[in-house]
Amino acid sequence: MNMFSDIKSGVIVDATFGGGGHARRLLNRGGLDVIGLDQDPEAGPNTADLVDNEHFSFVRGSFGNLAQILDAEGIEFVDGVLFDLGVSSHQLDEPTRGFSYRHPGPLDMRMGDGPLTAAEIVNEWSEADLARVIRDYGEERFSVRIARAICKARPITDTASLASIVREAIPAATRKTGGHPARRTFQALRIAVNDELGELERGLDAAIERLAPNGRCVVISYHSLEDRIVKQRFAAAAQTCVCPPGLPVCACNTVPELIIVTRKAVGPEEAEVTSNPRARSAKLRCAQKVAA
Ligand SMILES: C[S@@+](CC[C@H](N)C(=O)[O-])C[C@H]1O[C@@H](n2cnc3c(N)ncnc32)[C@H](O)[C@@H]1O
Repeated sequence: MNMFSDIKSGVIVDATFGGGGHARRLLNRGGLDVIGLDQDPEAGPNTADLVDNEHFSFVRGSFGNLAQILDAEGIEFVDGVLFDLGVSSHQLDEPTRGFSYRHPGPLDMRMGDGPLTAAEIVNEWSEADLARVIRDYGEERFSVRIARAICKARPITDTASLASIVREAIPAATRKTGGHPARRTFQALRIAVNDELGELERGLDAAIERLAPNGRCVVISYHSLEDRIVKQRFAAAAQTCVCPPGLPVCACNTVPELIIVTRKAVGPEEAEVTSNPRARSAKLRCAQKVAA
């Protein structure tokens, strides 16, 4: 994680531990303490090789609660926070989690153990709410048709049936463009089930507040909805003046919280995409807390 290379010591929170690839790379550099955080009950066992590492600790929880988690750990400020957003390969490849339109599984899609499942949205939400979620979170232009088809086919019990209902609802001529026809609908449901955008907003607020001077926040996102939130939150915290336009001199004396390190989002290198095709859509943004 090059964006943290200037941080030689201190505490870095890997807020999306998953399989721990990033956390291990940070630990292997030496000098850093790493807190791995993940809401997935299946992420904890991935720390088996790290239990004796005195520079590592794992917390099961959601990064929307980052401030409370740091309070509970007795930590006021940290030197870095990493968010590698979305689902892990493990979650996607495990049919029983219900994230994949490629494998039959239950309509679950929970990353943690929250009460809302995809089955509830698909089988109980109104057609209008379903269409709104599919449009807003999936950026799917056939959201109305898909919502109608889903409501007509209720009850739907598994991912394979849902994927085929979505596929049939999309006009045949457009099914071959933009990847699997159910990709956007599945993304939308997953975002709604896990309140992913709300979590990101709360997680970013807490990270920015709890960064020590010169500490860095690094976010890797995989779709434009997430990237837009990160870009706008960083930009708001980096503002130097919020005076109304037309004032001859600045009267607000705004002190920015952040300096933007990556003016434009950084994409993956070709080698990274070759070894992990899911990285193709990754966009990385980094911002640094202003010096005291
Ligand atoms: C893309 S994976 C991270 C992969 C990880 N960087 C690695 O090297 O293996 C995203 C992880 O973040 C977790 N996650 C997503 N949203 C979360 C949230 N709001 N709070 C905590 N963990 C979250 C998921 O459960 C998943 O394990």
